[in-house]
Amino acid sequence: GSRIPLIAGNWKMNLDHLQATHLVQKLDWVLRDASHAYDEVEVAVFPPFTHLRSVETLIQADQLEIMLGAQDLSQHASGAHTGDISGPMLAKLGCEYVIIGHSERREQHQETDALVNLKVKAALAANLAPVICVGESLATREAGEHIAFVTRQVDEALEGIEASRLGRAVIAYEPVWAIGTGAVASAEDAQEVCAEIRQRVAHTHGQELADGMRILYGGSVKPASIAELMDKEDVDGALVGGASLTAEEFAQIIRFRS
Ligand code: G3H
Repeated sequence: GSRIPLIAGNWKMNLDHLQATHLVQKLDWVLRDASHAYDEVEVAVFPPFTHLRSVETLIQADQLEIMLGAQDLSQHASGAHTGDISGPMLAKLGCEYVIIGHSERREQHQETDALVNLKVKAALAANLAPVICVGESLATREAGEHIAFVTRQVDEALEGIEASRLGRAVIAYEPVWAIGTGAVASAEDAQEVCAEIRQRVAHTHGQELADGMRILYGGSVKPASIAELMDKEDVDGALVGGASLTAEEFAQIIRFRS
């Protein structure tokens, strides 16, 4: 297809800022070592807020072809929200992307679909591309309700937002049972849900947006599992947790074609 794959590294709450810049340097070094380093794959890293500035400075100084994103943002642009970080702050720091509605935030911070929708709007208002996370629990999958559950999450995340504003938006399908468990979804299961998500976006926001939208798979992606996932028509990349924390592993995932 015409969609440029996106391999995104979500570092979660790991590394200090020195380890973060070291990891990016090493990643670039490993990638450049290969003949067709970054060919036709977009690479993005999502460090903790406190490391964004250091990583951005390094990316600028060495002109690295690595995009920067944050792991969350406030639904507000500014004001009395102690401890929160706004979209304009992230945009000013050079972030292109922001993860919204990761299952860990839904679970650990009680983030609802309604809040996810507000955060998507806040990201777009700040000119950030949202990486909207959806995904079902094991119980929901075992009940055979995963498609209905995930498509409803997509509906609610995109509710009231015009297609013309969503051109850079990304959706990440991350089944909760596959995150950090080592239990990667089969390529067939990932394809099934990613295709259903695309069909749903086509239904609510038009075929053109759906055809161009990148839909990622996330959940225990490793070098050994990436190629098969990327072979699938509707899987346009990966949101990688654990395996994005070592340069060698993450580079192997980025170079899924070799
Ligand atoms: O955002 C990333 C996902 O939660 C996947 O994490 O690759 O460690 O399973 P994981």
